[in-house]
Amino acid sequence: MGAYAQELRATAKAMVARGKGIMAMDESNGTCNKRFAALGIPTTEEYRQVYRQLILTAPNLSNYISGPILYDETIRQSTTDGTPFVQFIQDAGMIPGIKVDTGAKDMAGHPGEKVTEGLDNLRDRIAEYYAMGARFAKWRAVITIDTAGDLPSWGCIEANAHGLARYAALCQEGGLVPIVEPEVLIDGDHTIERCLEVTDRTLAEVFVQLRNQRVEFDQMVLKPSMVIAGKTCLQQAGVDEVAAATIQCLQKNVPATVAGIAFLSGGQSIENSSAHLNAMNVKFRDRCPWPVTFSYARAIQQPALDYWRGDSRRIPEAQQRLLRRAEFNSAASLGQYSS
Ligand code: 13P
Repeated sequence: MGAYAQELRATAKAMVARGKGIMAMDESNGTCNKRFAALGIPTTEEYRQVYRQLILTAPNLSNYISGPILYDETIRQSTTDGTPFVQFIQDAGMIPGIKVDTGAKDMAGHPGEKVTEGLDNLRDRIAEYYAMGARFAKWRAVITIDTAGDLPSWGCIEANAHGLARYAALCQEGGLVPIVEPEVLIDGDHTIERCLEVTDRTLAEVFVQLRNQRVEFDQMVLKPSMVIAGKTCLQQAGVDEVAAATIQCLQKNVPATVAGIAFLSGGQSIENSSAHLNAMNVKFRDRCPWPVTFSYARAIQQPALDYWRGDSRRIPEAQQRLLRRAEFNSAASLGQYSS
């Protein structure tokens, strides 16, 4: 048994506690700046700090959120009154998390596909983040589906699954609960059946690799994408169909001992993100061995970001818009959401 096993088990449970989800706010500077630029918000560290403070200080965020996932820049920042973000999070009764991958990069020999990097020096970075107060981590791998039916390649699925497993093992060694995130991208015109097939193969390989690397399932959280038709597919699946296909795929591939499932929103509409999660919990709760909740970024943040637009006078109302989505998704994790 690993040195941190007990602590990891308790942290993993707390991350997916009843009625709670995880707040993804770990956009890299590049991604954050892209979202700011689209709204005319200055792409500076100062504005990124203000925005992250807006999120973290939203009143009673901890009613709905077990912990936020931070980015390397953010975990070193403080509120304007000088309280380190990490301390603010702990004082609010939440658990600080940290993104540790260094991004999905073009994969050699695999045109159109990506492999996630970040294993170099990861043991040392984990030790630093643990010492700073982080108690869980995230690593995102992306799998692309193409129209021709050639992608994803087997090599891409295998390499990304292997990376996730190596990362997860290092996290558990160093006291961080790994969020294992294999995202099958929503981009494209593929059908829900094709998404099911790809998600099935991806999750199967992820769990083979996790086993091979001796990752403890009760000390990790899985962050999958939902099984859903591609964004530009003319035949969009209904809410119940998405919920049924997603749960079917998870039941087939995810060991019962995994501490929890926390979905990404992946570019779905904010309404669908809540409705799909709700339908899964209304219809299949009794048949799932793990809690099924959310770890959304866009589906919680977007209304707040759109309203704030960098204007300090708009912060209180932007926080209310953020809290509304957090509350709705919390309700959806209990099967109690109605739009
Ligand atoms: P979205 O909910 O916007 O997909 O983001 C979740 C996430 O953490 C992606 O890595």
